[in-house]
Amino acid sequence: MKLLAVVGSSRKNGNTATLIKEALKPFEKEAFDIELIYLSDYQYKDCIGCEGCKDTFKCAIKDDMQKIYPKVMEADALIIGSPTYFYNMTADMKAFLDRLYCYEVFHEEDRSVWMGLNEAFGVKYAAVVAVCEQNDEKDMGYTAISMEKTLQALGYRVVDVVKALKLFSRKEAKNHEDTMIEAYNCGEKLLKTLKLREEVQKKIRFMEQL
Ligand SMILES: Cc1cc2nc3c(=O)[nH]c(=O)nc-3n(C[C@H](O)[C@H](O)[C@H](O)COP(=O)(O)O)c2cc1C
Repeated sequence: MKLLAVVGSSRKNGNTATLIKEALKPFEKEAFDIELIYLSDYQYKDCIGCEGCKDTFKCAIKDDMQKIYPKVMEADALIIGSPTYFYNMTADMKAFLDRLYCYEVFHEEDRSVWMGLNEAFGVKYAAVVAVCEQNDEKDMGYTAISMEKTLQALGYRVVDVVKALKLFSRKEAKNHEDTMIEAYNCGEKLLKTLKLREEVQKKIRFMEQL
């Protein structure tokens, strides 16, 4: 199985990256194909709403997102994370998620009916990590909820959301034991969900043979 982790902060050793790496630890003990990418390593534009993807499910913009699309499509699960920048996710994370619009499918006559392309093949799973410096969750604004809702719209079941507060400077997360445990547990929950799916699939296949 494949897991893709996406860091939406340009601080490669920052809090978001630290917490995402902690969430990956449970997967490292398993036979998982894990890939962690930093969005700041890629050059890609904002979605331009051209609807060029409407019938093809392929984005018409030729930039580095074309390197990321196969990773997203091949992954059974995603972990995405972003710091809070003025009450929301970073521009890199927002642009990345917007560019996944090519995987959103709408009913021809009724756009209130839609699904994520994933749903045509069975739901996928995801977890979200949101980071902010303030003590109060309200100062995180829409960071966690907008990442979560976007993934849901794309056909992911978001099994856990880590909201890490009180983290300002680059390497602070490591000193926040409770938050690190929360991140580890988030990864573990995602792993358990994927394993449960595998067990259920095996059981169904076995029952079909009876
Ligand atoms: C442009 C900018 C805007 C920010 N806005 C907020 C904010 O609205 N609320 C908050 O609590 N922290 C805010 N922060 C603080 C970051 O979320 C915080 O430093 C976080 O730990 C950075 O995570 P990173 O190390 O993964 O980059 C902001 C930081 C920057 C640079």
